Amino acid sequence: MSTLQGKSALVTGASSGFGQAIAVTFAAAGAQVALVGRDDARLQATAVQIIAQGGRALICAADIADEAQIQAAVEKAQVAFGPIDILVNNAGMNVTQRSIADTSVEQWRQLMDVNLTAAFIFTKLVLPGMVSRAAGTIINVASGAALHPHLAGGVAYSTSKMGMDSLTQVTNEEANPHNVRACLLCPGVGNTPLLDRRPKPPPQELRQKMLQPQDVADVALLVASMPPHVNIDLISVRPTHV
Ligand SMILES: NC(=O)c1ccc[n+]([C@@H]2O[C@H](COP(=O)([O-])OP(=O)(O)OC[C@H]3O[C@@H](n4cnc5c(N)ncnc54)[C@H](OP(=O)(O)O)[C@@H]3O)[C@@H](O)[C@H]2O)c1
Repeated sequence: MSTLQGKSALVTGASSGFGQAIAVTFAAAGAQVALVGRDDARLQATAVQIIAQGGRALICAADIADEAQIQAAVEKAQVAFGPIDILVNNAGMNVTQRSIADTSVEQWRQLMDVNLTAAFIFTKLVLPGMVSRAAGTIINVASGAALHPHLAGGVAYSTSKMGMDSLTQVTNEEANPHNVRACLLCPGVGNTPLLDRRPKPPPQELRQKMLQPQDVADVALLVASMPPHVNIDLISVRPTHV
């Protein structure tokens, strides 16, 4: 499939889980993909997969809690690839503490920086170019917690994901008149390394019933490859049996 032929994509959290699958899938569909994350070795592993299938990848290592590192990553991608056509704000984290009582202000701030503020900064850097070219797609990977916030996900995590809903809606209001679209992609529970950091990681048997990274990547590809006049602005994808 070459539905993204000639496009440049930037995917955050491309070193693991959903983001890695999205990056590899977008590359297989013809996009050149800038890979953002902190772990250089794991980004290399994603790049190796992309190159092995004949694609083009660029490693843009960055801690997205740091605005200067976000700017450097975007600049590096634009120098190598030209303008970014598709931005996927996927990188995210959770803290072990879930309740208001247990979550420290420092943990709240760290989580907001990574899950929400970084998505705002990436959008702020990339959106003007999309608007001036009258083309572009932004996919904000949120969570079911963006639609139904819950204590199990945690107060900070749920709030950050609801914040992505607002960011997506305002992006659409601001950018749709310029032919630029944004999607809030809300996955349910997925079998990724994120689950290893749960207070009690789920067993393998249960993980097989969850969404797999490729499932979410296939949905992201659908969103990005629809004709420009179509905006899938909100999509929820959940495992059938979990
Ligand atoms: N798995 C689920 O059940 C589930 C469900 C709904 C939504 N989600 C959301 O889906 C997205 C991807 O999650 P996942 O399950 O694929 O998790 P994952 O396997 O743990 O991957 C998280 C990614 O985010 C990156 N990241 C985290 N902190 C970062 C930072 N400070 N700077 C740069 N990159 C950072 C990590 O890269 P480095 O470690 O290399 O920095 C990694 O590539 C997240 O936004 C998550 O909230 C997950």
